[in-house]
Amino acid sequence: MSTSEPLLELRDLEKVYANGREKVHALRGIDLAIHRGEFVAIIGPSGSGKTTCMEILGCLSRPSSGSYRFAGRSVAEMDSEGLSKLRGEEIGFVFQTFNLLPRMTAVENVELPLCYRGVGRAERRRRALSMLERVNLAKRAGHRPAEMSGGERQRVAIARALVNAPSLILADEPTGNLDSATGEQIMALMHTLHGEGNTLVLVTHDPGVAAQAERRVMIRDGRIASDSGLVRARREAWSEQRPLEQPA
Ligand SMILES: Nc1ncnc2c1ncn2[C@@H]1O[C@H](COP(=O)(O)OP(=O)(O)OP(=O)(O)O)[C@@H](O)[C@H]1O
Ligand SMILES: [Mg+2]
Repeated sequence: MSTSEPLLELRDLEKVYANGREKVHALRGIDLAIHRGEFVAIIGPSGSGKTTCMEILGCLSRPSSGSYRFAGRSVAEMDSEGLSKLRGEEIGFVFQTFNLLPRMTAVENVELPLCYRGVGRAERRRRALSMLERVNLAKRAGHRPAEMSGGERQRVAIARALVNAPSLILADEPTGNLDSATGEQIMALMHTLHGEGNTLVLVTHDPGVAAQAERRVMIRDGRIASDSGLVRARREAWSEQRPLEQPA
């Protein structure tokens, strides 16, 4: 395991949702460090806190307590301008519920993050179309979300998350609504992005998808129940301390 500073670091993170009198303790003390270039799958039962955790990692929601450091900087201390810059330039977020704008076509949806960054119209269109090609949707560029299938919408959402070439990609069930062939295409794209040096964190219910990640973190009842990265780090530390046993 790398000894350098983590890209993402959560410490004793808690999140309580308070709707009226009802309180939901969604995260109950999460400690997690993710380094640059890692490919991590977050798994766990429905309602265990995966999306809540991703929303905090993506700076879309704030924790109730605990700390979150992004590249060594405390997110809690950033102002709203700093936060939008971080979200807009460094993080690509694929939502569990797509979040596409219904009145805009596929290519216009994909262009949105580039509009926020002030990229010129022609360049925007060029980049958005090339991203749609990467997810095999060039022929749907002029369609609105209501005129596309669930899997196609999911791919538009992925193209939009990636169009800014973010170094951190957070994807909540990116293959959840796709048939297996399309799911495999999306995973192939994820592997390419990982190969290019990007950091990937994805939530999945699919054991086949989770198995493709380098590291699996299981969340249960708002806590980390297991982390293959920690198991490996401990095993490495252990084998450094003790020479391998010689066969008798
Ligand atoms: N805005 C909210 N207000 C109140 N409770 C919420 C809110 N969002 C999530 N919760 C609750 O917090 C808990 C964790 O929800 P979360 O969406 O993080 O789960 P999840 O692991 O992503 O589940 P799934 O696999 O079904 O997507 C659940 O009990 C959920 O009902
Ligand atoms: Mg979820």
